[in-house]
Amino acid sequence: MDVLIHLFVGLHIIGIASLLGGFLTQMSAMGQGTARFNRAMLHGALTMLVTGVALVGLNQADDNTVNNIKIGVKLAILIVILGIVYVKRDEEKAEKGLFAAVGGLTVANIFIAVLWT
Ligand code: HEM
Repeated sequence: MDVLIHLFVGLHIIGIASLLGGFLTQMSAMGQGTARFNRAMLHGALTMLVTGVALVGLNQADDNTVNNIKIGVKLAILIVILGIVYVKRDEEKAEKGLFAAVGGLTVANIFIAVLWT
């Protein structure tokens, strides 16, 4: 089971790479107001959701304690991210503030994951 949990943590991190990487590649465009929510961000956010839910299940099945409040906060933030990226996915240009908010929320979730013990 441990190997499976570590495998899913690895997939979870690939999801972060895609979501945050998609955002970072658009940062200079964001400065000019021409950034757009791209497929890497959408697929990264979906990967976070699927692997996150799987990690909760695998940890519970393995009798590891899962911090439900922390996971609930991360899930709530991710749902906001996913909602924005999904709804705006076909727009040529994203509003600067909204685009920055998605990057900020992603970074916030990373620090919630690693600092909330
Ligand atoms: C943008 C969204 C997210 C980010 C950036 C993120 C980030 C991370 C990171 C960096 C880790 C590894 C660090 C660690 O093990 O402490 C992790 C682990 C984990 N994540 Fe996420 N996560 C996100 C969304 C979610 C969601 C939506 C769920 C569940 C529905 C979830 C559930 C978990 C679980 C169960 C673990 C392993 C156990 C733990 O240490 O808390 N994550 N996440």
